[in-house]
Amino acid sequence: MFRMGAALVDENEEAGFAYSLRSKWPLNEQNKPRSDFEVEALDFLEANPGENFYGEEELGGDKYFVAAYPDRAVPEACWTCHNEHSNRGEDYPEFKKDDVMGAVVVRIPLQ
Ligand code: HEC
Repeated sequence: MFRMGAALVDENEEAGFAYSLRSKWPLNEQNKPRSDFEVEALDFLEANPGENFYGEEELGGDKYFVAAYPDRAVPEACWTCHNEHSNRGEDYPEFKKDDVMGAVVVRIPLQ
C-alpha cells in the first residue's frame, strides 16, 4: 500500500514532493538506500532512537530538502511478518519491539 502511494506521488509533479520507504535490510530490493544521504540517514536514525534526520541533497543537478523519519516496529505484526518473510537476506536482523526497521524519506525540491 505504501509503495503504491509513493509511486502515485512520484508521478504527480504538481504534488511538489516525493516520499519513499527505505531500509538497510529491505525485503524488496527497490527499498534499499539509493544515495549517500539515505545511507547516512538510516545509520543516524538507527543510532539515535526518537530523532529525525534532515538535510539537503543534490540529485541530477536539482537541489532537495530531505527529511527522514524512522519507521519503527510498534505493533507486533511488524516484526513477526518481517522476521518470517522469505525475502530475508543472510544479514537480516531479528527485529523486535521499538526497533527502527527503516525510514520514510521525503524530498522537497528547492529552487
Ligand atoms: C504482513 C506482512 C508485513 C507486515 C505486517 C509489515 N510489513 Fe513491512 N514490509 C513487508 C513487505 C512484503 C515489504 C516489501 C514491500 C515492497 O514490495 O515494497 C515491506 C517493506 C517494509 C519496509 C521497507 C524496506 C523493505 O523491507 O522492503 C519497511 C521499513 C517496513 N516494511 C517496516 C514495517 C513496519 C514498521 C511495520 C509495522 C508497522 C511493517 N513493516 C509491517 C511485509 C510486512
